Amino acid sequence: MEVSAIDILNRVRRYKEEEDSLKWEGTFAEYLQLVKERPQVAQTAHSRVYNMIKSSGVDERDGKKMYQFFGKQIFGLETALERLVEEYFHPAARRLDVRKRILLLMGPVSGGKSTIVTLLKRGLEHYSRTDEGAVYAIKGCPMHEDPLHLIPQHLREDFFKEYGIRIEGSLSPLNTMRLEQEYGGHIEDVLVERIFFSEDRRVGIGTFTPSDPKSQDIADLTGSIDFSTIAEFGSESDPRAYRFDGELNKANRGMMEFQEMLKLDEKFLWHLLSLTQEGNFKAGRFALISADELIVAHTNETEYRTFISNKKNEALHSRIIVMPIPYNLKVSEEERIYSKMISESDMAHVHIAPHALRAAAIFSVLTRLEIPKKQGIDLVKKMRLYDGESVEGFNSVDVEELKKEYPNEGMNGIDPRYVINRISSAIIRKEVPSINALDVLRSLKDGLDQHASISEEDREKFMNYIAIARKEYDEIAKNEVQKAFVYSYEESAKHLMNNYLDNVEAFCNKNKLRDPITGEEMNPDEKLMRSIEEQIGISENAKRAFREEILIRLSAFARKGKRFDYNSHERLREAIQKKLFADLKDVVKITTSSKTPDESQLKKINEVVARLIDEHGYDSNSANELLRYVGSLLNR
Ligand SMILES: Nc1ncnc2c1ncn2[C@@H]1O[C@H](COP(=O)(O)OP(=O)(O)OP(=O)(O)O)[C@@H](O)[C@H]1O
Ligand SMILES: [Mg+2]
Repeated sequence: MEVSAIDILNRVRRYKEEEDSLKWEGTFAEYLQLVKERPQVAQTAHSRVYNMIKSSGVDERDGKKMYQFFGKQIFGLETALERLVEEYFHPAARRLDVRKRILLLMGPVSGGKSTIVTLLKRGLEHYSRTDEGAVYAIKGCPMHEDPLHLIPQHLREDFFKEYGIRIEGSLSPLNTMRLEQEYGGHIEDVLVERIFFSEDRRVGIGTFTPSDPKSQDIADLTGSIDFSTIAEFGSESDPRAYRFDGELNKANRGMMEFQEMLKLDEKFLWHLLSLTQEGNFKAGRFALISADELIVAHTNETEYRTFISNKKNEALHSRIIVMPIPYNLKVSEEERIYSKMISESDMAHVHIAPHALRAAAIFSVLTRLEIPKKQGIDLVKKMRLYDGESVEGFNSVDVEELKKEYPNEGMNGIDPRYVINRISSAIIRKEVPSINALDVLRSLKDGLDQHASISEEDREKFMNYIAIARKEYDEIAKNEVQKAFVYSYEESAKHLMNNYLDNVEAFCNKNKLRDPITGEEMNPDEKLMRSIEEQIGISENAKRAFREEILIRLSAFARKGKRFDYNSHERLREAIQKKLFADLKDVVKITTSSKTPDESQLKKINEVVARLIDEHGYDSNSANELLRYVGSLLNR
């Protein structure tokens, strides 16, 4: 405890020291020198965001780009994110026209929109502390104005020729006044400092959430006149009488998040439009204020449709660029989403049995998929193909065709937060802190009845998807148990085969066997031999021929000095395998029947439970539940 508290404090101190060491202050003349050496410090807000995304690395797979910047937090949305970067951030960074539009992320609830925006914000905070992402501003400016605004308009063409940098926006009224009053008009003397983006300190990152439309004040966005200072400065249009503390002011040079933008009053939206379009905005009687910032908003589809269907919003519409953020459609990625959400929640200590999240993910993904039109393919096959599994008779070309059938797929269905909530109520209901796939599926099903926004038709469909998820899980569960049994398989197989061969030899040579313990003479064990032979359909009449054939093979091996082993006779191997699996079924069945297992069966069961715990990630509770469940499946 003590140690970790000290550790945290040390880290805070180190962070502060690091930031102190990054600090820079100099005159505008010195800043120009810096710009000459490292022109990227003068990049636009959009360009900084794009370079930040790129700097985390880009992987290419099957001609698709995967941006690592999003990769640790956002799963399964590679296509949407590639589009976001390639159609918005990249051209915006190159000062193309999209930059002048508001970026609107449109997608279903809990589809990761806010997470994407938060990643961008946290990313910028971090990036502004690196060399490549460094940002500089006029010292003491509440809007951290770009120092290059100090260059007068008529010199900007020459500046471009020399520095290769285009300057946009004019010096703000406040800094125009400060230039005269504090620096006697000498731009070279104006102090410049390095700034570090921080949402908490309101530097370069802003968030705006609409409140009650009646009480919402435009000043929250654009800042306002500080009436208490008018007496001092004499006029409302004196920039010193203005508080540049709106979100748009504070987000200058960085980005601003607009929550529920479409719920906003029109007059607010027009400010935004002028800002994005002309790079400036107007506040009250005050002159235009230049700003350079990425504006990103998010909304769901219904809200968006309502918005554009309103004729009054037509002009706004053309100034917004809409980027769809659909749900993830890959089962294995969906599992990762749940794991991440659980690890971030207060359920992190609960044991979630293997495949529980997969079962839930199968259900959610099914609710999001559209029924394929293609011949010979059903929803489950489509689900597998989307997840990159191989399905007989189909290849990657088919997958692309399936995707083209519904370009807007993934805008509907069950959302991750619903699933997490249902998992959490499954946990509450159970006494032990261990839940399995069946608990989760049951809870999802119960939840459907309470879910207000699901239509009767969907409910029925979704019930069916739960049944499909359950069937998928049954297969997985059976396989898992089989795998756990099979680990001692080699040993058992060898043992069973030797036993069989001894008996066959005795049978063919009309000998007796000796009991290994008592030394007593015994007849060959007919029951044992038949139980193996029956597995591959050898009839009573054919048994002698089969046994003789085995014996011939055995002596042929012996003559050549080769060892006859488990793999030396194809059909015998098959028979032995099947026999072992049949035994396994009996043992598993016993776990659910009233019969008490005998000692050897009990030993086997305990071995399997141990195996499930040590090698397959179960706890003792979920391992026993799994065995019981598979037993009941086999008893059906
Ligand atoms: N594709 C995804 N990858 C990773 N996490 C995801 C994904 N989709 C959703 N999530 C997780 O689901 C939760 C909800 O996501 P988030 O709040 O970002 O959604 P949203 O689109 O902003 O939703 P809303 O419309 O309700 O505001 C978060 O914990 C998020 O991490
Ligand atoms: Mg959100």
